[in-house]
Amino acid sequence: MCGIFGIVTGKDEALGPLLVEAGKRLSYRGYDSVGCATLTSDGQVDLRKDVGRIEDVARRLAFHEMRGTRGIVQLRWATFGAPSQANAQPHLDSDGDLVGAHNGNVVNNVELREAFIGQGMVVRSTNDGETCVHAVERYVDQGFSMLDAIRHAYHDLAGDYAFVIGRVGENRLYAFKKGSGLVAGVTDGISVVSSDLPSLLPLTRRIVRVEDGEIVILEPGRIELRRVEDGRRIEREVEAITETMEEAQKGGFAHFMLKEIHEQPRRAGEMLHLYDASPHVAPLVERMKAARNLYLVGCGTSYHACLLGATYIARLAGRPAIPVLAPQFVPQYVPAVGRDDVGVFVSQSGETKDVLLALEAARGRGLEPLALINVIGSTLMRESRAYLPLACGYEISVPATKTFLNQALAFLYLALRMGGHSTAMLHTLPGLIEETIGAAEVAVAGLAESLARHDDLYCLGYGLTYPIALEGALKMKEVTYAHCEGMLSTEFKHGPLSAVTDGYPVIFVAGPEDVARIVSGVNEVTCRGGWAIAIGEEDPRLRANAHDLVVLPPAGPLFNPLLAVVPLQLLAYRLSVARGLDPDYPRNLSKTLTVD
Ligand code: AGP
Repeated sequence: MCGIFGIVTGKDEALGPLLVEAGKRLSYRGYDSVGCATLTSDGQVDLRKDVGRIEDVARRLAFHEMRGTRGIVQLRWATFGAPSQANAQPHLDSDGDLVGAHNGNVVNNVELREAFIGQGMVVRSTNDGETCVHAVERYVDQGFSMLDAIRHAYHDLAGDYAFVIGRVGENRLYAFKKGSGLVAGVTDGISVVSSDLPSLLPLTRRIVRVEDGEIVILEPGRIELRRVEDGRRIEREVEAITETMEEAQKGGFAHFMLKEIHEQPRRAGEMLHLYDASPHVAPLVERMKAARNLYLVGCGTSYHACLLGATYIARLAGRPAIPVLAPQFVPQYVPAVGRDDVGVFVSQSGETKDVLLALEAARGRGLEPLALINVIGSTLMRESRAYLPLACGYEISVPATKTFLNQALAFLYLALRMGGHSTAMLHTLPGLIEETIGAAEVAVAGLAESLARHDDLYCLGYGLTYPIALEGALKMKEVTYAHCEGMLSTEFKHGPLSAVTDGYPVIFVAGPEDVARIVSGVNEVTCRGGWAIAIGEEDPRLRANAHDLVVLPPAGPLFNPLLAVVPLQLLAYRLSVARGLDPDYPRNLSKTLTVD
């Protein structure tokens, strides 16, 4: 997830070391390339950038030499467009008078870029940060002031992003945002702006949060807010911050896991915007449709997304897809795969050895590897023929939450496209996820208190909610250390039912189409004294038969699994905290499994 930072001081000084430190503070967001630009009082622009770790790039390109009255540092996390020197940020306009950098995604990048090239502008990369710079240049060239040029450019740039820009011959920086975060800060003689609070904290604790539709103008020791709408000044009190850096990185949440659960509506929305605008989706869909056999391959949580993906594809595209755990793919399917087959390899880290070994074995027999990845530049991205990003930003907590939701949503998107259906209705999902988080927080708090003393439970689902039951059980095991088994609800009576005694907890994830079947399972448990907890849409049958019902917003069978996973993530989180554990770093586990 890219990050930007900008600073304005009163006099020319060595800004390089300060920019490197600010960049390091942004690095927890994840990145693949880094760049710095400084502007001096006599009109010089110094721009240095490259692919790599900030420490290495800064040393190689001698960032410490960079001087000026204004500086910008950017860390890029590529979504589309390879990590490269040209695509690294900041970027210049055609004649080098403007320099700017962004984070986020400009979804009409391709159209704008083509228009700017057509107008004779010098476009040096395919990166959408450069498009932001040219969007301002277009109006500056027509004689508009910087403020007015930015006001016009704001309306031209669609997507979720934050952007900072400076011009030779002024002593200001300007910044604005749509969707993404942007915070400005002020102290004696300097003003600063960044995509997030932690990078500002060592410099100032006096901050102003910038909203959509606002432009912040930074001058030495002074910040001013203007309305995009009419350029009028906005008065806003400066806020005094007391948080520590780590607290700020967690965005006010006690743990990264909780923060990442709460990020899900925004991340889902961003990925949908990206896919709607992406030229890479259609060819991938065509390859999946044309496959003789279509395999969906992953491990752990990513495998659960494959399982749900296969059900979506069968239902919406009318063709089978085979979900398979990566290590089992090799003995079970690879001996039979061939050139006409396609595998979609799914991995948050893109480095899971089990997944990479499966890909290698299958490619050796001619299978075409495609991928869903979150880490751009990862081995899986490089080894696949084509990929789609999950656009979740850096996932810090070991338990995967936001990446699961976007993996499953990516499969729903692809399944709809494979079946020739519209994806428009998916845009209601971020709002539904938000609603689910709000309601589930309350419902789960009560349950967690009683569940915390149980070391053994089951989580059952059927059809589209079967993968959700498996995922919920995995989350529970991972962060609570309790034994929680996920399984198909109908299988419970074939053996595990014998575990049920008085008060034994069993969670049922009920899709709206399968309530009758789930209610049978609920009764098998309750009549033996077990404790049945249902997660589903409001339904009198669930209300009457289960002891507890966590209510999901009415959203229909296709969206239901994407909502149902949320209370399970929150429940696992609350149980972990109730047991005095750290959900972000469960014992014995690693975020990236590069071993057999
Ligand atoms: C999920 O909470 C786990 N941390 C784990 O199951 C994970 O999904 C699995 O190791 C696969 O990782 P990947 O997506 O990075 O390949």
